[in-house]
Amino acid sequence: MDYHTFYVTFSGRVIPKMLLLLALFVHVNAFVRQNRYDVIHERMEAEYYDPTLSNLSCINYKYNRTTRAFILAVTFKNDLTERDTFLIMGYKWLSNRYRLDILQFNLTVKNAFRFRYFDLDRLMHSCTTPPAELPLIKGVTYTIRDWVPDSTKFPPGIPEGRWKIAARLVTASGKHILSINWYGAVKYKLRMESK
Ligand SMILES: *[C@@H]1O[C@H](CO)[C@@H](O)[C@H](O)[C@H]1NC(C)=O
Ligand SMILES: *[C@@H]1O[C@H](CO)[C@@H](O)[C@H](O)[C@H]1NC(C)=O
Ligand SMILES: *[C@@H]1O[C@H](CO)[C@@H](O)[C@H](O)[C@H]1NC(C)=O
Repeated sequence: MDYHTFYVTFSGRVIPKMLLLLALFVHVNAFVRQNRYDVIHERMEAEYYDPTLSNLSCINYKYNRTTRAFILAVTFKNDLTERDTFLIMGYKWLSNRYRLDILQFNLTVKNAFRFRYFDLDRLMHSCTTPPAELPLIKGVTYTIRDWVPDSTKFPPGIPEGRWKIAARLVTASGKHILSINWYGAVKYKLRMESK
């Protein structure tokens, strides 16, 4: 992965270690499964789309009695190319609101497709119809459904709590195509006391 395509900034004190780890994993394209926390999906939100560039809809539903999921459908008016970019912002819930600027990075669509964390591979292939492959073709409606995150595929060391991950998709020339927000929680399992 190209160093120039991955940036991390933060102003929070809580998580520099996690960010360094995440940056390292991206750069070396390593993949480590974690088993210490569960990821609980809360909801997905279609915040914005530019109707001249795309069409986006999202509904949330109960996958089963205890688990929620969503159906997100997106259609692009132009092929989505490798150089279009996701601007990712992570907000952590602290003192009754989601705090800005804790985690920010930009990921080209090309690198997003190679990103091995956050269970994205299964989301884009097994859970998307038709399976998402680059380039995403204009006029095709890609529908993501029944994605229940596999916690083991999230990066080690993410701080416990509720998170909002905002993803803004922009073209290589800077046009804002769409924005989605994912809400979920990281919950650590009880640790056995070792003797
Ligand atoms: C979005 O795309 C679908 C499929 O092409 C179409 O039926 C629907 O009317 C579109 N919605 C908007 C708001 O453009
Ligand atoms: C709901 O589905 C999830 C994901 O497949 C599973 O882990 C969980 O055990 C299920 N819960 C119930 C009550 O069936
Ligand atoms: C991400 O890209 C946007 C637009 O190209 C830029 O304004 C922003 O500073 C970048 N963010 C980071 C964290 O590099």
